[in-house]
Amino acid sequence: MRDPGTWLYPLPVVLVTCQGRGTQPNIITAAWAGTVCSEPPMISVSVQPRRYSHGLIKERREFVVNIPTASQAEEVDYCGLVSGRDVDKFEACGFTPEESRRVSVPGIKECPVQLECKVHSIQTLGVHDLFIGEIQAVVHDPAVIANGRIDPKAADPLIYVMGQYLNMDSVIGWQGMSRRRGDTQ
Ligand SMILES: Cc1cc2nc3c(=O)[nH]c(=O)nc-3n(C[C@H](O)[C@H](O)[C@H](O)COP(=O)(O)O)c2cc1C
Repeated sequence: MRDPGTWLYPLPVVLVTCQGRGTQPNIITAAWAGTVCSEPPMISVSVQPRRYSHGLIKERREFVVNIPTASQAEEVDYCGLVSGRDVDKFEACGFTPEESRRVSVPGIKECPVQLECKVHSIQTLGVHDLFIGEIQAVVHDPAVIANGRIDPKAADPLIYVMGQYLNMDSVIGWQGMSRRRGDTQ
């Protein structure tokens, strides 16, 4: 046994874009993110109040969750090491701000999927504040979709396990495959 800790794995790592009034758009890397409701579709991102991005999201009450590829791991790491207080991360990473459809904060054109969110609520937890966002639009590169769902080979998701970045090697099953056993309802 160990002391209590954040041992859930694997995690997606996302690039959250945000912008204050009269400021440049910024990017924060976040691994503490997840789907929290299917109807209405909602996603959560936990951000420490000391992050520059925290104030930007709180002020505008909008953000975009950009899902990077494994080949963007270097940029993801960089956006998690430097602050938008000091650096224009879009410029430093060669990312292009892309006008969003339903929110006023831009997404990252180079990321294959962008989830445009309006802040539903903010919960103070401890070191992190939990931002729950209601997804207003899903914008994606058509190349990462096959048969109406994400094609993992094309989307090449970036996976995070306790400080390590991984890519996804292979698909090993599909939802509902255990019905073959005959003893499921
Ligand atoms: C892989 C990775 C995951 C991270 N996840 C989070 C997170 O979920 N929440 C958070 O507040 N900071 C997280 N960070 C740290 C911020 O991304 C980092 O402090 C960043 O420089 C803040 O940028 P800002 O000052 O421009 O907001 C993460 C960093 C890395 C490298």
